[in-house]
Amino acid sequence: MADHPNTANQDPNPSVRGDVAHPKAIRTFVKRAGRVTSGQAKALAAYGQQFIIPFQTSQLEIDSVFAADPLAPGRGSPVVLEIGFGMGEATAQIARQLSETRFIACEVHEPGIGALLKRIGELDLHNLRICAHDAVEVIDQMIAEGSLDGIHVFFPDPWHKARHHKRRLLQAPLVSRLARRLKPGGYLHCATDWQPYAEQILEVLSAEPQLFNKGAAADAGLGGYAPKPDYRPLTKFENRGLRLGHGVWDLVFERH
Ligand SMILES: C[S@@+](CC[C@H](N)C(=O)[O-])C[C@H]1O[C@@H](n2cnc3c(N)ncnc32)[C@H](O)[C@@H]1O
Repeated sequence: MADHPNTANQDPNPSVRGDVAHPKAIRTFVKRAGRVTSGQAKALAAYGQQFIIPFQTSQLEIDSVFAADPLAPGRGSPVVLEIGFGMGEATAQIARQLSETRFIACEVHEPGIGALLKRIGELDLHNLRICAHDAVEVIDQMIAEGSLDGIHVFFPDPWHKARHHKRRLLQAPLVSRLARRLKPGGYLHCATDWQPYAEQILEVLSAEPQLFNKGAAADAGLGGYAPKPDYRPLTKFENRGLRLGHGVWDLVFERH
């Protein structure tokens, strides 16, 4: 599952790129150690088929995916893509809170996928589907341009070492492809607890001509960063960081 390449810095057109498993591709993730617990395995077996959207190399019919579920929000309701949901704590809370929005959430970490499926079962969520695949490929191949109302990227891997910076998800070529997939008025919301990455994200998003800094307009006193939007919950991880005095930077940009 996690053996797919990152194409963040490559040609945006997958048909030109051709071989999506190009050996030189740079991934934004590594397959983390961590075993699937029995609860997660049970959730994978019980809910995987209903809630995991298989990867495909053609555009996804988002309305059809949710139309199969009579309890899901109807056609035309907002669609938000999340990249890298980890264990899915924030994802499930947001989906519960924004029950009329449809969420497509990408992650490659199998215990995390199991954990989110478990939460989907416990909370009886119908407005959330999972892509258990490299989000970069999902974006390029499955998500139509102008189809998203929002994109969430919460605490993307910071890749601290300089030689790994090329693995960072939020770089200009991918940001441009993300922006194209937003509807006009759609938003890209990123959060990070690593200041140098926050600065890089701010620079890259500010330089993207399809986007403008909506969050900064709401509060000019944060130097381009946004106040945390109410829908993004404080996770256990973030709370612990805040107690230790670490900062968190939210960035909210909108498509023109
Ligand atoms: C630092 S964790 C943060 C997880 C979660 N958003 C949170 O706030 O706790 C980043 C996650 O992004 C996932 N990830 C990184 N690159 C990805 C990609 N290209 N496609 C899907 N998931 C990715 C990793 O597997 C990892 O679980």
